[in-house]
Amino acid sequence: MTRIRKVAVCGAGGTMGAGIALVAVRGGFETIRFDRSSEALSRSRGAAEKFLKKSVDRGRMSPEDSDATLARLQDSTDLADLADCDLVIEAIYENLEVKQALFKELNTICKPQTIFASNTSTLSITQIASGCGREDRVVGMHFCLPAELMKLIEMSRGLNTSDETFREAWAWTEAAGQLPVETQDKPGFILNALLVPFNNDVIRAIEAGLATAEDIDIAIKSGLGYKMGPCTLLDLIGLDTQVLLGEAFYPITLDRRASVPPLLRRMVAAGRLGNKSGQGLLTGQSRQRADTAPDFSIVASGDSRSFPSGDTIVDRATERADVTMHLGGGYAPDPSKTAVLVELDTECLGVHTGEDMGREGSNAVGFARYRNGNDAPSNLIELVRQPATDAAALDAARAIFEVAGFDVVVCADQPGRIVDRLVRPKYNDALRFLDEGLATAEDMDKTCKLGLGYPDGPIERVTRGGLARHFDVTSALYAMTGQPGYAPARRAVVASAHQAKAAVCPDPVKG
Ligand SMILES: NC(=O)c1ccc[n+]([C@@H]2O[C@H](COP(=O)([O-])OP(=O)(O)OC[C@H]3O[C@@H](n4cnc5c(N)ncnc54)[C@H](O)[C@@H]3O)[C@@H](O)[C@H]2O)c1
Repeated sequence: MTRIRKVAVCGAGGTMGAGIALVAVRGGFETIRFDRSSEALSRSRGAAEKFLKKSVDRGRMSPEDSDATLARLQDSTDLADLADCDLVIEAIYENLEVKQALFKELNTICKPQTIFASNTSTLSITQIASGCGREDRVVGMHFCLPAELMKLIEMSRGLNTSDETFREAWAWTEAAGQLPVETQDKPGFILNALLVPFNNDVIRAIEAGLATAEDIDIAIKSGLGYKMGPCTLLDLIGLDTQVLLGEAFYPITLDRRASVPPLLRRMVAAGRLGNKSGQGLLTGQSRQRADTAPDFSIVASGDSRSFPSGDTIVDRATERADVTMHLGGGYAPDPSKTAVLVELDTECLGVHTGEDMGREGSNAVGFARYRNGNDAPSNLIELVRQPATDAAALDAARAIFEVAGFDVVVCADQPGRIVDRLVRPKYNDALRFLDEGLATAEDMDKTCKLGLGYPDGPIERVTRGGLARHFDVTSALYAMTGQPGYAPARRAVVASAHQAKAAVCPDPVKG
């Protein structure tokens, strides 16, 4: 139940405000769409009418409901019209002084009970509320893009927000058909706090020559089940927007991963902003999947994480073929073969083959089938090449796995390959956020599933895969890179130590 009847959205001519106004009016509330630009307002009014018409055409709304919805919408460029609103949601420019000035002015116009909500992505709710005159009645209400379609709202309270205000605002989001999660007034709340450094890591990986943007997208989608690859997402949100996010977060968090990667600055300087400029991270180049593959034989020297016993890959193997696949950590050079495939765990290929300052050329190709800890292996094969790996060896490896039905990507012999390099720091962040009380595990997972379309949340996934395994992987990555993002999170350290202790002294009750 909510006592809120009338809602205003400031900045309703903009991307977010237009969508938020649709959420409010569709939820049955009298809604004022306010913007200082009448042109922006009339543009977004047209878009709202189109959206409702589409809903009718697709049978999601009756024509009568659509008419009633439109009748509840009022447009205004006069702030005085907002006087009797119960809730004002601002989605104007991301600028602290401009937002503060708006709330200060609204405080003199609106009734004392009116709640002010901010849709800010990067600013502090406490700071936005500061000096407005009703600091106890200001909340954070962070919608996701496109707001009219996305159900998730990250709700946060400033230091002075009253419990009653937070409860009322929360109840309104539910009455409007949205799904709220609770988070703290911290940079990026949950979603952007996890996403901004992750996206920067992706750009840094491209800059480091790890893999192409296309292969990074394939790896993340196939290995982790994300609906959209990170490079596609970055091109969609705009590389210039990612710069602004980094510039907003880094000075506050001093997290190096949040700082703007040099390649990102160069891309923006070159006018390559992503979809809006026609050029971004993705090059548009695609590759044909192989439809024939050479024979291969298998040499097994231990348990294979990629192909546990019973896997059908074994049925495809033949005796004394021109390609050898080593499973379980073994390797023996054999220059007479087209390719020698070496299964990898957390180590680099160079551990097996040796390295010669980039001059090595060999038929050895590393590979690993991505697997989240003890989960069943995914459909992704990451191939690992050294600087001068033979092209014929790489082609043979790719063909063998593609013909067997796997998604195949190629990466340089760098720590973590693609998926672990990119996803493990995110798990560390999520585990640390949990310790710091940013949100509950359920709300963090819900945010990633609803806001980003992930099949599961980071806490759910890293826990299922095993925190002790996360410790092993991140310890290996940290040892190789020295980067703080890979230092195992406290919960992983504890899980690993607990496991080791249990192995030495089994629980006396369980025996
Ligand atoms: N774009 C996103 O993906 C996204 C997602 C979540 C939150 N946000 C946040 O939403 C807010 C708006 O972002 P956007 O991308 O929709 O911006 P936008 O530039 O598309 O729209 C801003 C609108 O605000 C209007 N405006 C500016 N100053 C105003 C004022 N003083 N009074 C009334 N109207 C004013 C502008 O005319 C414009 O129509 C920002 O705080 C942003 O951080 C954005």
